Amino acid sequence: MEVLLSLRDSFHKESESVTSLPELQQLKVKYLGKKGLVTEKLKTLSAIAPEHRPAYGKTVNELKQHIEQEIIRVELLLKQEEYKKSILTEALDVTLPGKYTPFGREHPIHKVLSEITGIFSSMGFEVEEGPEVELDYYNFEALNIPKNHPARDMQDTFYISDEVVLRTHTSPVQIRVMEKRKPPLKIIAPGKVYRCDADISHTPMFHQVEGFMVDTDIAFSDLKGVLQLFIHSMFSAETPVRFRPSYFPFTEPSAEVDIGCIFCSGKGCRVCKQTGWLEILGAGMIHPRVFEYVGYNPEMYTGFAFGMGVERITMLKFGIDDIRLFFENDLRFLRQF
Ligand code: PHE
Repeated sequence: MEVLLSLRDSFHKESESVTSLPELQQLKVKYLGKKGLVTEKLKTLSAIAPEHRPAYGKTVNELKQHIEQEIIRVELLLKQEEYKKSILTEALDVTLPGKYTPFGREHPIHKVLSEITGIFSSMGFEVEEGPEVELDYYNFEALNIPKNHPARDMQDTFYISDEVVLRTHTSPVQIRVMEKRKPPLKIIAPGKVYRCDADISHTPMFHQVEGFMVDTDIAFSDLKGVLQLFIHSMFSAETPVRFRPSYFPFTEPSAEVDIGCIFCSGKGCRVCKQTGWLEILGAGMIHPRVFEYVGYNPEMYTGFAFGMGVERITMLKFGIDDIRLFFENDLRFLRQF
């Protein structure tokens, strides 16, 4: 019994000097482990005289329970200590300024592109897209531009191979859509196009929005009405609109559409080269031969088509004089829109 009492004392001495959880774990093993001091005492029960055994066994078990409880108590204390320490060392200074993350914004080209598609959507046009790497067939052939046609020189084409090009305009989407769908159609096709050309008003990649409408009796007046409404929504309701005869192999008749110069109100200036007019898009009535390529009966269907350059419209809208600014990623420029 005395041995047990001194065991209890020595445990208390040791447990008081424990300063960490691993140390406490060691102490637990030392007393209560398989070969622990208290466990050993239980094993030697048989060596005790039978009449003393119950009292002895009871005392050993009490000692064991006592030590177990003590270990739990000390463990709790140590954990609280650690928690307090961590709060102090990992303290968060909520008065520090936050990390600054600059806001991004929509690119001016994309902004105007959304505006254009928005205006046509409100007139009931659907949006379709086509591939930028395009077959010669869709970019030229089916648009009534056969090989060796002089119109091919008008567009400085990037060739991937003899039959594959980077599309030079969005007009091939007309063919792709008409091939898979039947009239009535009211479509716009926005996207990137490519031409081997670079100067103050040309970049090798730029954006176009194609538009076309096909049904049983679409007239040139429909084209005029749609484009006039578009221009008045895009610029202002007072902007003069002019249709000028022109030529495209895939439309007949063809026209170039001008707006009254928004910089000089038509008086004549450097931007409009003293003409008072700015060209903003090409358009016309879809050529019967194009309908034949897609298997539409040209006796039954008529339609109009137009194509505009998004960079050009953006430059006019914001008074930008160099197209290359759009692609230089200078934030001082881009932040203005
Ligand atoms: N695809 C022509 C171009 O890029 C524009 C256009 C489209 C003209 C549709 C008429 C009809 O120059």
